[in-house]
Amino acid sequence: MLKINWWKKLSGVVKISGSKNAALPIIWACLLLRGKITLNNVPKIRDVETFLDIISEIWAKYSWKGNTLILDTKNMESNKLSYEKIKKVRASIFLLSPLLMHFWKINIPFPWGCNIWKRPIDSHLNSLKKIGFDYKYDWENIKISGKLKKGEKIINSGFSVSATENSLIANVLRKWKTILKNVAIEPHVMNLVDLLRKAWADIKIRYSHEIIIEWVEELSSDFEFDIISDYIESGTFMVLAALASEKYLDIENARVCDLYSFIEKLKESGVKIKDLWWDTLRVYRCENIKAVDIQTNIFPGFPTDLQSPFTILQTQANGMSKVHEILFEWRLNWFVELEKMWVKLAILNPHEAIIFGPNNLKPAKVTSWDLRAWMSMVIAWLISEWKTRVTQIEYIYRWYENFVEKLKKLWADIEDSSKATIHSS
Ligand code: EPZ
Repeated sequence: MLKINWWKKLSGVVKISGSKNAALPIIWACLLLRGKITLNNVPKIRDVETFLDIISEIWAKYSWKGNTLILDTKNMESNKLSYEKIKKVRASIFLLSPLLMHFWKINIPFPWGCNIWKRPIDSHLNSLKKIGFDYKYDWENIKISGKLKKGEKIINSGFSVSATENSLIANVLRKWKTILKNVAIEPHVMNLVDLLRKAWADIKIRYSHEIIIEWVEELSSDFEFDIISDYIESGTFMVLAALASEKYLDIENARVCDLYSFIEKLKESGVKIKDLWWDTLRVYRCENIKAVDIQTNIFPGFPTDLQSPFTILQTQANGMSKVHEILFEWRLNWFVELEKMWVKLAILNPHEAIIFGPNNLKPAKVTSWDLRAWMSMVIAWLISEWKTRVTQIEYIYRWYENFVEKLKKLWADIEDSSKATIHSS
């Protein structure tokens, strides 16, 4: 259980960890490489641990040195995978390509993950069908088998992050040219491209959301690679700084280059931000927050994964602001929890809602389907003048590395004594 005691103004420096959404597909891509790969800046979060659990079942070996992960995928034997572990994590979808390229036949549970929409996988399956794989699936289970088809192929990735990443992994070793259209270009997708290029893959990026993959004889399998820092975690701490700092917080490894749209909206809300030095930002406390509308979008638009932290900022703004969530139908569902905390708002439809600020957040028993919203509510409790007891804290450890320690280093009066529900007194 997480105990958040009295409201304390935060100060100091926070160092952003490696990116969850980059590390997960990259660990899977390494299964393709059959060698010894050293990955630096890997976040030690529960989802990474679950992944490593799963791959050790197929005889891949790994070891840690701090946040450096050494993977040895030379001797992968069986594809006897644990269903229970795979079901838990949406990112298991990345299993599809590396395992098919090894075993040509797989049978895995449908990878649900956060309940922010139905999470369809048609783009993934259609891309695999295009290159020779037939599939049968229902919301429980996916069976795929086949052999790589000859000839040049054009594949539509539907601007899906994981479908683009799966197609990259499935096609780098295909003996023919592959053109991926409508690709996602999120920073974590580009980090995966950089890893595959480091492994000698021939990948060209076109400005029109197109990726060209040419055939290469073999991929190298003995190198070191850096995972990018997590721009979503960085954006979350920027909101915390604007709402809960004494004067300001310094954010190291901030990934400023990936956060242009988000930072523009913070500035529009009146938040003062100073670029200190290489990728370190100083974000100041904002006393008079302006109401600002946001609309989420694919990269480089406003990230859907920062919709919930920005919404917490807007609960403290003067005036009416609108949130337009384009990507996921159910990603505004957590607004019903905000209402329980006495936030004045109106949900217009599954994609749009209005917030009337400012709001004095009140104690409430809340829950959330979405881990980002869950973390955003921790920010809400850190700025509400109540003692809060948070349960199911283990969820947050799935995606955020050492977040209690990080908050403590910023002088938050918080402690984790695990396992239970939320009571605010
Ligand atoms: C990735 O999910 C991220 N997860 C999500 O982050 C993120 O919210 C999302 O991309 C959008 O940026 C990981 O990288 C592990 P999508 P993914 O396929 O790949 C529709 C977080 O908070 N779609 O890009 O599953 C889909 O319904 C998590 O870290 C299809 O219709 O998302 C959605 O509307 C949550 N058919 C849109 O595309 C498909 O086959 C974008 O989804 C695939 C997707």
